[in-house]
Amino acid sequence: MKIDILTLFPEICRAPLSESMMKRAQENQIVDLHIYNLRDWTTDKHRIVDDAPFGGGQGMVMKSEPIFAAVESLRAEKSFVVLMTPQGKRFAQSLAAKFAKKEHLIVICGHYEGIDHRVIEHLVDAEISIGDYVLTNGAIAAVVLVDAVVRLLPGVLGHEQSAADDSFSAGLLEAPQYTRPAEFRGWKVPDVLLSGNHAEIAAWRKEEALRRTRENRPDLLGRGD
Ligand code: ADE
Repeated sequence: MKIDILTLFPEICRAPLSESMMKRAQENQIVDLHIYNLRDWTTDKHRIVDDAPFGGGQGMVMKSEPIFAAVESLRAEKSFVVLMTPQGKRFAQSLAAKFAKKEHLIVICGHYEGIDHRVIEHLVDAEISIGDYVLTNGAIAAVVLVDAVVRLLPGVLGHEQSAADDSFSAGLLEAPQYTRPAEFRGWKVPDVLLSGNHAEIAAWRKEEALRRTRENRPDLLGRGD
């Protein structure tokens, strides 16, 4: 899979996507990831990427020309263009799975008060928000999206089953996990996990997953995604 990130802050994206699993996914050529500075597609001396909004108002708006030039120079027939914006559709595991099946993602990071709407109307395939809060720029959001997508690509996780076991994949949060020691400060690991009885362990995990979901994320229960 190929992923191109377009941002005004390449360094924000670079470090988190150069470590651990993301590093290995690139070294093993599972993902071909590039991080580009949008200013490289400006044509003026000052490399200007923003301007005042028509109609007045506070803040600056990202100009359409450098974004169109960048996407048009990078895209191919099967490219899918995502814009990171708090006005987007809420990102979720189901969307990560959908994006992981694409051949080529181009991820545009929004910044300033917004982006010229012609980019959204005529260039972007999906507007995505990572949650109901506003970040200073979309680069951090792009890192979140790319990480969630890349870890789903075959061969990235050591254990192929691990992605299927994730919270959200089954519509429930994950059951609690424990490791050694079996007793820590007097707090014991549930006996069932030490029993070796796989059926009982599976039943316990299902019940705990349900309990945790009911407690922390009741909105997930009774919903298909
Ligand atoms: N840019 C600023 N806030 C954002 C959010 N919540 N999701 C995606 N991009 C953003």
